[in-house]
Amino acid sequence: MGMMSQRAGSVYLLKEPDRFPLSCAGATVEQFEEAKSRMSSLKQDPGNDVKLKIYALFKQSTLGPCTTPRPGMLDFINKAKWDAWKALGETPQEDARQQYCDLIGSLVSAEGGSVAAKPSGSASAQYETLLVTTEDKITTIKLNRPAKKNAITTVMYDEIVTALEQAGKDNSVLTVFTGAGDFYCSGNDLTNFTKIPDGGVELMAKQAGELLRKYVKAYIDFPKPLVAVVNGPAVGISVTALGLFDLVYATERATFHTPFSQLGQSAEGCSSYTFPKIMGNAKASEMLLFNKKLTAAQACDFGLVTEVFPDSSFNSEVWTRLKSYAALPPNSLALSKQLIRSTERERLHAVNDAEVELLVERWTSDECFTAIMNFFQSKAKL
Ligand code: COA
Repeated sequence: MGMMSQRAGSVYLLKEPDRFPLSCAGATVEQFEEAKSRMSSLKQDPGNDVKLKIYALFKQSTLGPCTTPRPGMLDFINKAKWDAWKALGETPQEDARQQYCDLIGSLVSAEGGSVAAKPSGSASAQYETLLVTTEDKITTIKLNRPAKKNAITTVMYDEIVTALEQAGKDNSVLTVFTGAGDFYCSGNDLTNFTKIPDGGVELMAKQAGELLRKYVKAYIDFPKPLVAVVNGPAVGISVTALGLFDLVYATERATFHTPFSQLGQSAEGCSSYTFPKIMGNAKASEMLLFNKKLTAAQACDFGLVTEVFPDSSFNSEVWTRLKSYAALPPNSLALSKQLIRSTERERLHAVNDAEVELLVERWTSDECFTAIMNFFQSKAKL
């Protein structure tokens, strides 16, 4: 998490994108049809690159891989379309449909749009920043701010805690955490603390600390197997919390980055304990102190990730696997998970407390203020 001091003022007031419940564990035909109809109602032209991508995903979804002959050199438009379609290679139709829905969803969200219809499966609650569905005995919590790379706002922190509480009690066997669009999550939304309350920076840091403590606690105490489906790059707390998951599946496109010292901050999500335990002190320090970004393959070698899949077959392979796991006896799974966690639960809570205490101090530091200002200044120059 991060914060800015009062000097930053109320600079960035974000409008949350509304829910766009089109996708879950592989988009259904109905969701695909709905995405198509939303496509035609977009107010802004998404630009040629995005339109080509949409075209290619549509063709792949409906016709499968491109097998038609390449248009002639001077037929520029059709050649660009053909190239975009061909670039999808052997991507399965189901995956293309999912990516099509995600892409349209991100465009609709970026325009502040919403769709009233529910996704297939039972939607377990209405959320502003998440898509939560239950299907095939799997509850999926999908971060749904693709235009902001799924950065976690304070609203989203609260919603995730609620979604985890509900998933812990519902009749699903597995709970899956994933992101909409091309990113898994870009970590704490750095605009979270630009509105300073009357009590000043110290009060804000304290409130943020309590929110973080509650957030991490929800993972430590989660009673069922928890699976991360890392669909793209992951940053900050979305990486550190992985040490509290039971399985982590990643696309080969994913990266894992914890730029805490770069931001004048310090580690959270119990990573100061779980990372050295998982990967050894030397590798953990390179990530947590020196901002080393891991590839998916490195994260797998170090034991942070369970398995890496080719991007083209990521969804179909992972969800086939998860559906078969969700058919296992639920009580045996949940009780075994709790048994494994029970040996460490108190320790993890103590680590969470210590990490929060240090972060509350860090959030009021000049180092943190300067680093976050630099992030926004570099964005302003683009
Ligand atoms: N907090 C706030 N806004 C964020 C964000 C974050 N953590 N991550 C991304 N965004 C916003 C960007 O500001 C941008 O907003 P804009 O469209 O209004 O300009 C939008 O999301 C898209 O991000 P962009 O930076 O244009 O995409 P990119 O692919 O070039 O880079 C990241 C993506 C995640 C690498 C980059 O945005 C980044 O470094 N974000 C900060 C990550 C971070 O430090 N998190 C905290 C860790 S402790």
